[in-house]
Amino acid sequence: MRGKQSFVVGIFVVLISSCASCSAKLSQSSNGFIYSIFNQDNSIVDVEEEPEIKPRQQMGIPVVINTWGFDAGNANAWNMLNRGGSALDAVEVGATTCEVLQCDNTVGFGGSPDENGETTLDAMIMDGERHAVGAVGCLRRVKNAVGVARKVLEHTSHTLLVGELATQFALSMGFPEENLTTPDSLEMHDSWERNNCQPNFWRNVNPDPTQSCGPYTPKTMTKDQSKTMVQVPPRVIDQWNHDTIGIVAIDSLGRVASATSSNGARNKIPGRVGDAPIVGAGSYVDKDIGGAAATGDGDIMVRFLPSLLAVEKMGMGLSPTEAAEEAIQKIARFYPTFSGALVAVNLRGEYGAACHGIATGFPYCVSPEAGSNGTIILHANCTSTSTSPANRVFPNPAAANPSLL
Ligand SMILES: *[C@@H]1O[C@H](CO)[C@@H](O)[C@H](O)[C@H]1NC(C)=O
Ligand SMILES: *[C@@H]1O[C@H](CO)[C@@H](O)[C@H](O)[C@H]1NC(C)=O
Ligand SMILES: *[C@@H]1O[C@H](CO)[C@@H](O)[C@H](O)[C@H]1NC(C)=O
Repeated sequence: MRGKQSFVVGIFVVLISSCASCSAKLSQSSNGFIYSIFNQDNSIVDVEEEPEIKPRQQMGIPVVINTWGFDAGNANAWNMLNRGGSALDAVEVGATTCEVLQCDNTVGFGGSPDENGETTLDAMIMDGERHAVGAVGCLRRVKNAVGVARKVLEHTSHTLLVGELATQFALSMGFPEENLTTPDSLEMHDSWERNNCQPNFWRNVNPDPTQSCGPYTPKTMTKDQSKTMVQVPPRVIDQWNHDTIGIVAIDSLGRVASATSSNGARNKIPGRVGDAPIVGAGSYVDKDIGGAAATGDGDIMVRFLPSLLAVEKMGMGLSPTEAAEEAIQKIARFYPTFSGALVAVNLRGEYGAACHGIATGFPYCVSPEAGSNGTIILHANCTSTSTSPANRVFPNPAAANPSLL
């Protein structure tokens, strides 16, 4: 809580300088910080000037920010913060909202079927106070992936559980086993099969994956051939194919937390885990700096830990926008045609975003806009817009669903 403490210490400097014989003590209770001003004989000073605590809005916190136009998730998280809830609970509520609403079919059940037609889920939650993470990858037959991630955080010393055995863990924690396939996701899978299993994520296999369905076997390659391996064309990333809600919140006590939830890449090879549950990639928080969350082509982005990078850059003094831009540019230097975006927020509640290769620009949600208490959708312009198709209109998603709270 260094940010919070320096704010508090700042108040003391003012008070102490007007009372040379006083000492100040700071203690932390479950409700936050308690200020006490003592004389040298330990009697409490009659403080005439009450420490002036800046209104929350002016301090920029609480604040919550998320990737894409998922304003219902952001609003539910904001409502929780605004009622004094913790950042950790807020990000869980925000991500759960998207799992329930199946935001853009990229979060939750019934979206992004893998090659077998199954939907599997990735999620993580990170608590800045403890610098602790719970995450699940390739979770099967359980809808509330971020809820399971929270159980990993709270009830184990592990960080990441995966696959069928993560499902068994979830059931033991009381989550219901459910069918994640819907008529919609069945149709996505069927139409992909009718289209000769295009597009897919295979390369250097037989039969030619750009023409045929599997099963595939590895193509034996000479050394020269392997240098010029077929590169899969970059994935088209847009509102309906981008993997993730990433959400970062700072509560009124200055605590920071983040969460992600995703059903991954459509037509992924079964077993694929993306960037969403990987700490530093899908999201990252540092209690002394702030947090960041990523979305986009997870298979590329996970190689750069862009959320970690953005947070570290903020720690070095960059603004959230500059930090996000630098992390995105780092990826673009290696993969000029990748598509992805980052949101970042620091402990002062300043926020920003950056994106690359999304023709429509990158919408993201923030609550509150300074001077108001609603959720707004902002758009970041991307550094390259070459890889995405025609303009798309972003509909205004459903209003916050209070029944989730
Ligand atoms: C899951 O739901 C889909 C779509 O409604 C259905 O086709 C499939 O048979 C169900 N699977 C199981 C195991 O119930
Ligand atoms: C917040 O929103 C509510 C409902 O719209 C409104 O009544 C209230 O005045 C707003 N508060 C601030 C500080 O804007
Ligand atoms: C994005 O570009 C549009 C059009 O050029 C401009 O009006 C807008 O201010 C830009 N937004 C940001 C956040 O730079």
